[in-house]
Amino acid sequence: MPRILVARRLFDDVIAPLREHFEVDVHDSDLPLPPAELAARLQGCWGLLGSATEKVDAALLAQCPELRAVALMTVGYNNLDLAACRAHGGQGLLLSNAPGVLTDATADFGMALLLATARRVAEGDRYVRAGQWTGWSIDQLAGAELRGRLLGIVGMGRIGSGIARRAHHGFGLRIAYCNRSESAEAAALGAERMELPALLRAADLLMIVVPYTAETHHLIGAAELAQMKPTALLVNIARGGVVDDAALAAALREHRLAGAGLDVFEGEPRVHPELLACDNAVLTPHIASSTLPTRRAMVELAVNNLLDWRAGGPGLTPIPR
Ligand code: DGY
Repeated sequence: MPRILVARRLFDDVIAPLREHFEVDVHDSDLPLPPAELAARLQGCWGLLGSATEKVDAALLAQCPELRAVALMTVGYNNLDLAACRAHGGQGLLLSNAPGVLTDATADFGMALLLATARRVAEGDRYVRAGQWTGWSIDQLAGAELRGRLLGIVGMGRIGSGIARRAHHGFGLRIAYCNRSESAEAAALGAERMELPALLRAADLLMIVVPYTAETHHLIGAAELAQMKPTALLVNIARGGVVDDAALAAALREHRLAGAGLDVFEGEPRVHPELLACDNAVLTPHIASSTLPTRRAMVELAVNNLLDWRAGGPGLTPIPR
């Protein structure tokens, strides 16, 4: 039977169907395999079931001539060097990601982080636990009001649309967005499409949900942060690297930006030390899609892509060529 490497501890029962068609080697750990070990474990493998942390680039592929397929359980696939994958072995690798199944959980979390940042939930929690709460006061930990304010969404894909719906219908926010193309769904909410500089200047709240690519590296840096209102809040649930974390920490520290909610970081799991020191930042460990039903569905979709390819199919959610 052809061999598959499952590059992380996942759910045994969800990956079990693979065992009927493949010899399955599981790296049963929450620590990603370092590149050299990943290459070693992939020797002789037909496929890889990976996540956001296995870098599949020309250097790895040169060491894995037998590799034919990579199925990711994540929607983001910036860890794949697409040009190298497409050139691999002459005909290219079969590639898939996991869109759709995580949209609701991730959009819910985007709202959770937005609300936590606007209403200073983490600060309140720290305050109570530290025994600082001695009584009610009129402006204690006063937060930002949402109704009627403008939420700027950078990236109006499935998750961006899910956030726009929740924010507009649930919290009375007005929506504007920046995206390569018009979104009919956003237009139905009365949302205006803007260029990024105009969106930065207008937004009271900014939600980043754009994929990480060479073009979106440091899309939000010092110059962009300087255009935002000092009362604005920024939420990043996309990928570390879309926002320049050092520039963001400086803006938060100097109160040129009122607050930030961050689920993703440049170089994670390391977090910029100056962000750790910002009381006006809510920090979470890349958990936007983390509900058990969603994480199981993400793994199941990767499994089903591998099974479909093995049966001669085109894959269920192939990454466009
Ligand atoms: C994704 O699917 O890209 C998420 O960021 C992983 O949790």
